[in-house]
Amino acid sequence: MAAFKELVFSGVQPTGNLHLGNYLGAIRRFVEMQGREAQCLYCVVDMHAITLWQDPEALRGQIREVTAAFLAAGIDPKRSIVFNQSQVPQHAELAWIFNCVARLGWLNRMTQFKDKAGKDRENASIGLYDYPVLMAADILAYRATHVPVGEDQKQHLELTRDIAQKFNTDFAQSIAAREYDDGFFPITEPIIGGPAARVMSLRDGTKKMSKSDPSDNSRINLTDDADTIAQKIRRAKTDPEPLPSEIAGLKERPEADNLVGLYAALSDVSREDVLRDFGGAQFSTFKPALADLAVSKLAPIAGEMRRLSSDTAYIEAVLADGSERAEAIARPNLDIVKDIVGFVRRPRG
Ligand code: AMP
Ligand code: TRP
Repeated sequence: MAAFKELVFSGVQPTGNLHLGNYLGAIRRFVEMQGREAQCLYCVVDMHAITLWQDPEALRGQIREVTAAFLAAGIDPKRSIVFNQSQVPQHAELAWIFNCVARLGWLNRMTQFKDKAGKDRENASIGLYDYPVLMAADILAYRATHVPVGEDQKQHLELTRDIAQKFNTDFAQSIAAREYDDGFFPITEPIIGGPAARVMSLRDGTKKMSKSDPSDNSRINLTDDADTIAQKIRRAKTDPEPLPSEIAGLKERPEADNLVGLYAALSDVSREDVLRDFGGAQFSTFKPALADLAVSKLAPIAGEMRRLSSDTAYIEAVLADGSERAEAIARPNLDIVKDIVGFVRRPRG
């Protein structure tokens, strides 16, 4: 592998219904990061998926579908490393070591756990509680320096930084003895931002667009056809006012703000630019323009996803090749971590 200064890592769960928020907030950013002088790793996080029960056959299909979405969106599996988490054992190994570094108090503050566990917390899986520790292991098994994600992952990335910091401090002497002068783990930079870091539901501008929303009209799925996309945008909740000509006018208009943000993200301009063109327009004018734009950007991806999804052998070959290359980075890192911690390990031949 060529030695890059930056290492980019991100993951998406294979839990069904990939939507416009996943695409604009995450996957599209992954594609952009390929333009940097960096090794990029993009992981289908199947071990995270089973923190909530998944039907085994459906899970297998969803792992392939997320892989197909990565490729259809423009991730190049030669340049980047595309793989699924469960094929690389170092994720689970490092997660255990991090379980002994992270503190209960830190995990107790994680809002995603509270949201996902709901009222019946006693009945949530331990994996769901431990989810952010596995995520830190995903990132740090590669000593990744940059992680592109949507806004909802910000707290998990702060936890990742805390774990890296505490490991570096707890084992400072052992790390220094191995001549890592600035600590072994990097303090990873989150890459969050742009007009679509938090895409909201089309039915309620105060809730984020999500895979698990029971209403399919709340989201645009990457597999929706042109008619469905247009219909969902036409039915999207709005208020009766025309669009304002300045950003300040979007305040307290969450639905309008969301649709303007979507237009901005899809056409790669700022919200200000969108309002310069559409300020004063009614939604009856703006929505069809947004629908045309969304269809023109998403239809080619959906088509390519369908084509790739049917080629199971190709998708599985990409994942096998990717996990081999991923493990080639993670394995030597884990060897060093085991030495740092004080384990006795079997020497490699
Ligand atoms: P998940 O579906 O939870 O595995 O999320 C995969 C990626 O999509 C993560 O980087 C999330 O932050 C991002 N993401 C999920 N929902 C949204 C949303 N509504 N808006 C923006 N980004 C999102
Ligand atoms: N928790 C992320 C999400 O739900 C998915 C994820 C798992 C991830 N491991 C990661 C994202 C590592 C970035 C880096 O969206």
